[in-house]
Amino acid sequence: MTLFRATVVDAVGSGLTDCRLRVDEDAGLLVTDGIITARGPFAELFRAHPDEPVVRLRDGLLLPGFVETHAHFPQVRAIGGLGLPLLDWLQRYALPEELKLADPEYAAAVAEEFVLGLLRAGTTTVLAFGAHFAPAMDRLFEAATRWGIRLVSGLVVSDRTLPEDLLTTPDQAYADGLRLARRWHGRRRLGYAVTPRFSLSCSEEMLESCAALLTSVEGARFTSHLNENLDEIEGVRRAFGTATYLDTYSRPGLVGAGSVFAHNVHPEAAELDALADAGASVAHCPTSNAMLGSGLFPLRQHLEHGVRVSLGSDVGAGTGFSLLKEGLQAHMTQELRGEDGYPLTAVRLLYLATGAGASALGMDGLIGELGVGRQFDAQWISPQANPTLAMSLRNAESAEDALAKVFTLGTPADVAAVWIGGDLVSERSVA
Ligand code: GUN
Ligand code: ZN
Repeated sequence: MTLFRATVVDAVGSGLTDCRLRVDEDAGLLVTDGIITARGPFAELFRAHPDEPVVRLRDGLLLPGFVETHAHFPQVRAIGGLGLPLLDWLQRYALPEELKLADPEYAAAVAEEFVLGLLRAGTTTVLAFGAHFAPAMDRLFEAATRWGIRLVSGLVVSDRTLPEDLLTTPDQAYADGLRLARRWHGRRRLGYAVTPRFSLSCSEEMLESCAALLTSVEGARFTSHLNENLDEIEGVRRAFGTATYLDTYSRPGLVGAGSVFAHNVHPEAAELDALADAGASVAHCPTSNAMLGSGLFPLRQHLEHGVRVSLGSDVGAGTGFSLLKEGLQAHMTQELRGEDGYPLTAVRLLYLATGAGASALGMDGLIGELGVGRQFDAQWISPQANPTLAMSLRNAESAEDALAKVFTLGTPADVAAVWIGGDLVSERSVA
């Protein structure tokens, strides 16, 4: 057992519209076999467990590890492609980089960069968009196993409109996916996600093969893109002739409680109803939506229809791994929507980056909060080389105020340590 001593802050509640901040100053968290077994005033816990080792986190805040619900593993080195809308950006920046992952050694190096980038940003669980190559996926699952991150991911499949070397067939996609899922799904902290790139790069047969794979792998999740960009939406309509973009996924049975759709910047009311009825989630990717000029996410409309929303960086269209930055951009996006925006307070931002992701991935009860019974997946935010954040935290009026400063000023350099299931997985090196 280990006793952690810190100011512990998490966001609890059943959804974004009813979450609240839980703050314990000078708290103790007792961690037994990776699970939080007691939370309370440190003095009380220390009295009850005087012989256990104490980890003292003197300043800053101890937060739950972030739960990231949309980041592209093969795009780490494509971050920073400025100035193009989605379809041009894919051609110019993303797809040429993704082709390089045909080389398993290259993929192994990128997998390492991806997992380390996430951990150093305080992310402890990720739903990751995979690569188009099965050996590259093995490298990603291996890197995740080595570093201990919770990872849900799968082979990305497509059979049209992309460069030839990124294409496969529906039968091959099913066979490769099943082989990967049998190897990795359910192993320790790993899970499999069936992942067609988007309907624009898939035939109906390919989406049906995805549905078959989803049925074959019990507990597998589903993820893809939806309604990100107006030209993309128009292309999907022309190719499929369906009333809505979501219909292309609904028809083969790909919209369920285990489905996470990235973006959904331009939804129709019928799609929001269908997503809510299915219990599906939407991963909001605010920096990507701004970088690619995709639009201002209609969060209020999602919430009014009862659609669950979580947060994603969408690296490499997004601007980095930090969900602090995504949270801030999410806040600013709602401000830019004016009257129609949904105000994102610091509490709601923390919920979006933690509990909402846990819920989207079916991991509520396991992660997302620092309460008794949860895994000790946590990050210690303690600025060392960020004097403006350090000054702001010293002068904060309350824990909520401090949290707002962290979202506004924090970076991965302010994440001093990260634990997953009680294991220390990342520690800022002291210069
Ligand atoms: N739609 C299809 N592929 C992609 C991708 O790689 N990034 C984003 N943002 N949208 C996509
Ligand atoms: Zn994406």
